[in-house]
Amino acid sequence: MTKVLGISGSLRRGSHNSALLRAAVRLMPEEATLEIASIRGIPLYDGDVEAQGIPAAVTQLKEAIVAADGVLLVTPEYNNSLPGVFKNAIDWLSRPPADVKRVFGGRRFALLGASAGPFGTVLSQAAWLPVLRTLGTQPWFGGRLVVARAASVFDEAGNLKDSVIEEQLRQFLAGYVAFLRRTAGS
Ligand SMILES: Cc1cc2nc3c(=O)[nH]c(=O)nc-3n(C[C@H](O)[C@H](O)[C@H](O)COP(=O)(O)O)c2cc1C
Repeated sequence: MTKVLGISGSLRRGSHNSALLRAAVRLMPEEATLEIASIRGIPLYDGDVEAQGIPAAVTQLKEAIVAADGVLLVTPEYNNSLPGVFKNAIDWLSRPPADVKRVFGGRRFALLGASAGPFGTVLSQAAWLPVLRTLGTQPWFGGRLVVARAASVFDEAGNLKDSVIEEQLRQFLAGYVAFLRRTAGS
């Protein structure tokens, strides 16, 4: 069974990105599981805090990443770039530098996201690329999912109600899981 870990970059209760991640759990191919992890509880990065030890929430998320075959980053877009809260979490996960290879090296990441605007996280996803490169991940670029005008794609309860996006998400996940299975052990 292929194990994927999904992380939403929004803390908001009514987050469209968290809703997209929940929809992904439902639409995963049979041969894979998608577990949802959270960035909640990760403090603002502070070298003085780090000097006292890596916070438990960071260590826990690092170990969840290490245990996964692949990681889905579900990213909002803030001011045409990536959200600070999400980047802050990834920055913490990259500490100490000696652990970067174990946590990120060669790990197979995929990006998707939902935003209120008409371009659906295109710029946010692009902004993640140098980060994923610096950390030595193996990003999957075989599919692209940008959910624009997210308010019309989910209902009040956060259920995906757009059948076109649902099919796109299903295909995206199928492509990503096929990649994970094809490259397992590489
Ligand atoms: C600080 C800030 C900046 C934003 N900038 C953008 C933007 O550049 N493009 C866009 O499409 N939406 C932008 N939005 C709107 C977000 O897409 C919208 O709030 C979205 O619902 C956030 O994701 P979430 O629902 O997962 O929390 C911005 C929102 C915030 C709070």
